[in-house]
Amino acid sequence: MKVAAHGQTDTGTELKDCFFYHTMEIPAYGVVPGLWDLRGGTADYLGRVNFSGKRVLEFGPANGFLTFEMEALGANIVCCELSEDQPWDVVPYAGIDVQRELAARREHLRRLNNAFWLAHELLDSEATVIYSRAYDFPSDVGPFDIALFGSILLHLRDPFLALQRGLAVTTETVIVTDMRTRYDLRFAQALKGLLPRKLRRPGMHFIPDYGTGFPRDTWWRLNPEIVVQFLGILGFEETTVTCHTQLFKGRRLPLFTVVGRRTKGLPTGEIRASCEP
Ligand SMILES: C[S@@+](CC[C@H](N)C(=O)[O-])C[C@H]1O[C@@H](n2cnc3c(N)ncnc32)[C@H](O)[C@@H]1O
Repeated sequence: MKVAAHGQTDTGTELKDCFFYHTMEIPAYGVVPGLWDLRGGTADYLGRVNFSGKRVLEFGPANGFLTFEMEALGANIVCCELSEDQPWDVVPYAGIDVQRELAARREHLRRLNNAFWLAHELLDSEATVIYSRAYDFPSDVGPFDIALFGSILLHLRDPFLALQRGLAVTTETVIVTDMRTRYDLRFAQALKGLLPRKLRRPGMHFIPDYGTGFPRDTWWRLNPEIVVQFLGILGFEETTVTCHTQLFKGRRLPLFTVVGRRTKGLPTGEIRASCEP
């Protein structure tokens, strides 16, 4: 047992110092409620990919519900997450105090990462974490069989660069799950064959609104078509798209998952200077 009588783990983390983004069942604490309850929807969220014996790179694990689920399915996981000292891509509205926003995100990350390590300890996980912005993920840590981008691209100023970084070290499969919105209603119509192919346009909607000053931590609503295009450009041309719903604060919200299989290798030659900031 790793929880002492006073409710601390061996490493001293207490539940009150944690933020749970995902609802999780943790030994000694039972079910700890979070914003999203993916229990029961995990297979859909992860695109029904086989994780047995796979080396997985997971971007943005939050408190690690998916990490520990994939591990239970036989994966060996390396996560890429922000530390308290690495800046969230805050939307820099004129007039807001960006330092104050970043400080709030720092506190959020501190408690989120505490939750990850608390669960990690109590679940005897062997997953490792590299604290890095997705854009700066080191190229010498790979290769990985599978990369997972679960609800992270919407928070990144440059989602394509994050994919480019992650997929440069991924050999087989990529899973991208993100929110569906009213904007991709067109996609639903297309599925029913109601919309000609040329009208199924790849797109991402810019959602920050200077009128309200919100949101501050989110940039985009991507549609599945743009994710398919991004993945194709990065060498993952065989894709499947599925739609599903997951529980957020007790409400069912629509998401999509794109699974891409690598069909082409990396571009040859030095691309850093021309294609990366
Ligand atoms: C909305 S949560 C998604 C959690 C989980 N992947 C899922 O699908 O349920 C976004 C995660 O991405 C992380 N994140 C945000 N910006 C990041 C960045 N620039 N680099 C790496 N991770 C980032 C957050 O800290 C958080 O863990």
